[in-house]
Amino acid sequence: MKKRIFSGAQPTGQLHIGNYLGALKNWVALQDEYEAFYCIVNLHAITLPQDPKTLRQKTLDLARIYLAAGVDPQRSTIFIQSDVPEHTELAWVLSCIARMGELERMTQFKDKGKGNAERAGVGLFTYPILMASDILLYQTDLVPVGQDQKQHLELSRDLAERFNRGYGDTFTVPEPYIPKAGASIKSLQDPEKKMSKSDDNANGSIFLLDDPDTVTKKIKRAVTDSGTTIEFDESRPAINNLLTIFQLLTGKSADECTEHFRGKGYGDFKSELAEATVEFLRPFQDRVREFDDEALIGILHPGAEKARTIASDTLGSVYKSMGL
Ligand code: AMP
Ligand code: TRP
Repeated sequence: MKKRIFSGAQPTGQLHIGNYLGALKNWVALQDEYEAFYCIVNLHAITLPQDPKTLRQKTLDLARIYLAAGVDPQRSTIFIQSDVPEHTELAWVLSCIARMGELERMTQFKDKGKGNAERAGVGLFTYPILMASDILLYQTDLVPVGQDQKQHLELSRDLAERFNRGYGDTFTVPEPYIPKAGASIKSLQDPEKKMSKSDDNANGSIFLLDDPDTVTKKIKRAVTDSGTTIEFDESRPAINNLLTIFQLLTGKSADECTEHFRGKGYGDFKSELAEATVEFLRPFQDRVREFDDEALIGILHPGAEKARTIASDTLGSVYKSMGL
């Protein structure tokens, strides 16, 4: 039997090249070898206020992005989190196993709650429990995510192990799959910060739906570090980041990239990076436009049904072992 993967993204903001290179690209690469479940986590999205109409639209738009990136509904199951009520049911059970202290250590809560726990929503605090529930319901072996989700994944593992110890072997303990290159693509405006959907400065991110002019302008304006050579160098985060994007989009090895840009300067490099990005985005954006809402519903409904059969099995054994 094939091993299982589960991953998801939130239908908020605009997806950027960091989401693609850190996560989606690997979802696509892994779907042959694994039985894959890719979820649109709309219940995670409401941990911050969302406009209902926009949320509904963005949920479908995100399904389009999964498909355009190459997630194949013949091989992988794509579904919307709120269509499978077992996610919230298991989240309650896990919240009775989780400890306040372990949630208080989650750095994403500290970031998104802006350090003000008194005013932050309770859902934002318990968000990692819902994420653990997503993963554990499918007896997931592997979870392909970017670096920023590593801590949440460790919590999922801890909860699975604690449950298994207390109530008998019930959950597979999931492993993270965090790529060596691309796990944390940085902002083009500040290479110390990750590229983020919620960044106020849109120039820091290349969005997957940006037009060629916008992409080229953003790359030309990207900050650079001191030094003129175009090579991977730990002490120069800006060029490292830009070269990583180039490397992953072109499929070249690190050595090939360095060789390719030997003797060239930033002007040439940025032009080539802009070209490679536009060449990648053009067919991607064409594919996004191929799926109308009806086609999406035809994928998402059966996806949720398939997901439910597995999720309800797992929840059934959880309830049984707890005496519920
Ligand atoms: P989100 O849309 O925020 O739910 O994120 C979806 C996926 O993209 C998660 O696996 C994140 O870890 C990943 N991701 C988000 N930002 C970045 C980034 N700057 N670099 C690499 N991966 C990222
Ligand atoms: N928390 C993840 C993020 O913000 C999204 C997510 C929710 C997820 N549930 C998941 C990722 C399960 C992997 C597995 O990016």
